[in-house]
Amino acid sequence: MSNTERTFIAVKPDGVQRGLFPEILSRFFNKGYKLVAIKLTMANEPLLREHYADLQSKPFFPSLLSYMLSGPVLATVWEGKDVVKQGRILLGATNPLASAPGTIRGDFAVDMGRNIIHGSDSVETAEKEIALWFKKEELVDYKPTLYS
Ligand code: PPS
Repeated sequence: MSNTERTFIAVKPDGVQRGLFPEILSRFFNKGYKLVAIKLTMANEPLLREHYADLQSKPFFPSLLSYMLSGPVLATVWEGKDVVKQGRILLGATNPLASAPGTIRGDFAVDMGRNIIHGSDSVETAEKEIALWFKKEELVDYKPTLYS
């Protein structure tokens, strides 16, 4: 897997409001990943309907929508080796009942409907999600001396 693999990670409104994002960013930096885009943004319904297009028929979809619209989201893009799979490991299982201590959800979440963070589930999904949440010019192309 190339070092330029990218993933989309969003700190959801509860994670932002609880001030958990410095801790979450640290976990990705500590693992060795490079931040290439970041913005605090209010999602909107059309964007969320596209982002969660495969979930529209789920019974929890309306509550997922209102949760994601309840406050700002910290949208980020990270780059590095195997970052999609490693990112999902850092997040922990979707259901906090199943997420291990030491993972972000395992340490900070108890409720499936308030599970703090989203991460792309594949390289293909990551590409779509990055293009949905960010303009091309918002992705920063740089080579920190640390990585060269
Ligand atoms: S499913 O049902 O298997 O498609 O769901 P899953 O892949 O586990 O989760 C997809 C996203 O839906 C969110 N989700 C929920 N939100 C609110 N309430 C309930 N009950 C619920 N169940 C699943 C889940 O957090 C996933 O969101 P993201 O943002 O992708 O992590």
